[in-house]
Amino acid sequence: MNIKIAVLPGDGIGPEIIAQALEVTKAVCNKFGHTLEYKSGLVGACAIDATGNPYPEETHTLCMESDAVLFGAVGDLRFDNNPSAKVRPEQGLLAMRKKLGLYANLRPVTTFDSLIEKSPLRADIVKGADFMCIRELTGGLYFGRPQGRSEDGNTAYDTCVYTREEVERIVKLAYEYAMKRRKKVTVVDKANVLATSRLWREVANEIAPQYPEVETEFMFVDNAAMRLIQWPTSFDVMVTENMFGDILTDEGSVITGSMGLLPSASIGVHTSLFEPIHGSWPQAAGQNIANPLATILSAAMMFEYAFGLFDEGTLIREAVNASMAANVCTPDIQTESDTKYGTKEVGAWIVDYINNK
Ligand code: IPM
Ligand code: MG
Repeated sequence: MNIKIAVLPGDGIGPEIIAQALEVTKAVCNKFGHTLEYKSGLVGACAIDATGNPYPEETHTLCMESDAVLFGAVGDLRFDNNPSAKVRPEQGLLAMRKKLGLYANLRPVTTFDSLIEKSPLRADIVKGADFMCIRELTGGLYFGRPQGRSEDGNTAYDTCVYTREEVERIVKLAYEYAMKRRKKVTVVDKANVLATSRLWREVANEIAPQYPEVETEFMFVDNAAMRLIQWPTSFDVMVTENMFGDILTDEGSVITGSMGLLPSASIGVHTSLFEPIHGSWPQAAGQNIANPLATILSAAMMFEYAFGLFDEGTLIREAVNASMAANVCTPDIQTESDTKYGTKEVGAWIVDYINNK
């Protein structure tokens, strides 16, 4: 197959982790006889520096012309420390999601047996946790308008907006996934307070009867945050609005032992995008300590979701599991060992594993 991808490293640790995911992608293409065609583009702070725009038109064209986008992270301390900056790296990511129509963000939270001891939760609580969080990605508070400040600067406002159509398409997707999994959907909202959440509930109640085999559970987001650490194995498919999903998946990611392990796929109208859920961690940039596994696992999702190549995805996951079993790990997940591995060494080990398979 011809695999044509856009590679957007972004900022901070983005370039380092993407370099490893790209090497793994090349190795897999080589092994399975696919031709890989890739081009890099700018997004985030590096794009602001080069062009003034965090998601330049040229990058958008590249994404539109590719079959998948492999993306690292955006964010930079220069902007984090300057709340009055008008143009921000994160706007590039939001613009990219919106313009590519990526309304669904699939974030699988799975535990790895070899890492259970690294979880901040007790092993008996976390063992076997395996759920898919489906986060709505192009609506809600992050996109609602008006957004801004009063003239005197003393009042600020954001707007949370959802349309029936936006809720319907994502809730349906959640049920479709549940049918392929353990047949349970948890709709997370704040329907006791928010009007948008009541619309979510109404729509979910209309869709649920179309999937009689699927059990539906409604949960307020505060309760869900608690349940995630008390009883993470009770979830199968969780569907929720943009901001709740953003927050809950950070929480979900540490349950598995490290934030550096959680991949994601954003799908929708145009080209799908694959990215780790952790951010750009600018403090670690250039130090060869960032965990490349979330990005490498995002490449596995890319083979499966964008190209329907499941053996390829499985091989990457097998290689990642093998690296952790062999304790070839970056410092965030390394258990007692004298050998220290960095971003590059972990990536190289996984490439070797794939080549020798
Ligand atoms: C994520 C990130 C982004 C988001 C930021 C960088 C805009 O936190 O992908 O979860 O909030 O969506
Ligand atoms: Mg986030």
